Amino acid sequence: MARPEAKGHAVLVPFPAQGHITPMLNLGKLLHQSGRFFITFVNTHYNHRRFLRSGGPSALHGLPDFRFASIPDGLPPSDADATQDVPALCASTSTNCLEPFCDLISELNSDGGPPVSCIVGDGGMTFTLTAAERFGVAGALLWTSSAPSVLANAHYRSLVEKGYIPLKDASQLSNGYLDTIIDWVPGMPKDIRLRDFSSFIRTTDPNDIVLNFIIREIDAAPKAKALILNTFDALDSDILNSLSAIFLAPVYAVGPLNLMKITTSSRHLDGINSSLWKEDFSCIEWLDQKEPQSVVYVNFGSITVMTIEQLTEFAWGLANSNKPFLWVIRPDVVVGEKAMLPPEFLIETEERSMIVSWCPQDQVLKHPAIGGFLTHCGWNSTLESIVSGVPMLCWPFFADQQTNCRYACVEWGVGLEINNDVKRDEVESLIKELMGGEKGRKMKENAMAWKGKVAEAIAPGGTSYSNFNKLINVLSN
Ligand code: UDX
Repeated sequence: MARPEAKGHAVLVPFPAQGHITPMLNLGKLLHQSGRFFITFVNTHYNHRRFLRSGGPSALHGLPDFRFASIPDGLPPSDADATQDVPALCASTSTNCLEPFCDLISELNSDGGPPVSCIVGDGGMTFTLTAAERFGVAGALLWTSSAPSVLANAHYRSLVEKGYIPLKDASQLSNGYLDTIIDWVPGMPKDIRLRDFSSFIRTTDPNDIVLNFIIREIDAAPKAKALILNTFDALDSDILNSLSAIFLAPVYAVGPLNLMKITTSSRHLDGINSSLWKEDFSCIEWLDQKEPQSVVYVNFGSITVMTIEQLTEFAWGLANSNKPFLWVIRPDVVVGEKAMLPPEFLIETEERSMIVSWCPQDQVLKHPAIGGFLTHCGWNSTLESIVSGVPMLCWPFFADQQTNCRYACVEWGVGLEINNDVKRDEVESLIKELMGGEKGRKMKENAMAWKGKVAEAIAPGGTSYSNFNKLINVLSN
């Protein structure tokens, strides 16, 4: 790739949550590395402050062509160090962010740097497409959830029109109704169930904020000049074909974004960290002492919450499995109270466990000591696990995680599902299966095969590499 004279200026706007900021920042680094773009990365004020506290952009000093800016999210001010309420964020960003964002673009256009030439917004921040239209520049969207979940979301409107959702009453959550087969979504398996759709269908309220937000955001997507997904063609080929048929804009699978590298730029961006929490690196030294593939890694991402009873069941399941484990417990993971573990559990597992509140997950999953991952199936975690060749136990919480769990367990053959009503005996037996059983061995084999396909996709000439080059051409014109 030749480095052209004039650089464009790409403005990137993630949805304000960790699982969206990380892939968007990785995309920003890639666009910057291509040598074709000056980057402005726009967080909300709330997350910008957390980013500064966690040390995220400190490595940016001396990178005048990769800048951070912020806009208000429209929610009441808060100093908390936690993920905000997702429905409130959906309602607020979609109604309050357009005008401050346009003011920011005007400022960027008059501060002496290159004028803004394209805007890449999160798939849930489609006001950025309206702004792109207003300024006459290219607008693109990055969907940070999985490709199957985007396809499922694209059928929310049909589910409403055909009368499947909203649910008639709350009994449908537990009476088998969610097992209804939806066999008419092109690109999805014929035995996909309502429960495999992202969790926002599980409402009885026709005015449900997130259900309607998703329908609106999907409706706005065809305005984009490019639709970007954090996956690779081989993993999701049927789904990607269906998405291309539904949306008018070209769909580019350019992932895994945490592994992709374009090496035309001399700038070193690895030090730019997207973490909103401070990472505890001591767990890497701890893993260094452990046997290959011996440790269970447990992490439920940035948004999942659970009851103290569920936390306790996981704890005793881990203890009774007798396997070493690294468990990341966010301080706010238990609803409404401190995440206290039983003292007997802490004593019993002291010799073979490490518990931290946030870790460098990317590095952890690549560590040879990790044998399996107990996860909530957030898309980043799922993809990071697949590309590291690590099989999973899946305990989906919300959003696209139900869809990711179905695909991980059934279509990709790399996961086993834990019942939502988690019990210690099941956790214990599934951990034993994951770490040494026949199914565990098969899942490991499958995960390693996906790891190999990822290497092909991101190599020069591979699908993600080529798709990324097509994308930068679209964004440059
Ligand atoms: C959310 C949704 O849950 C997810 O389903 C959606 O696809 C994106 O937004 P989250 O729940 O945080 O994200 O999960 P996930 O998508 O897995 O993202 C978490 C990110 O934080 C991952 O990139 C992970 O590597 C990182 N992380 C998590 C850390 O770096 N350290 C940690 O201790 C925990």
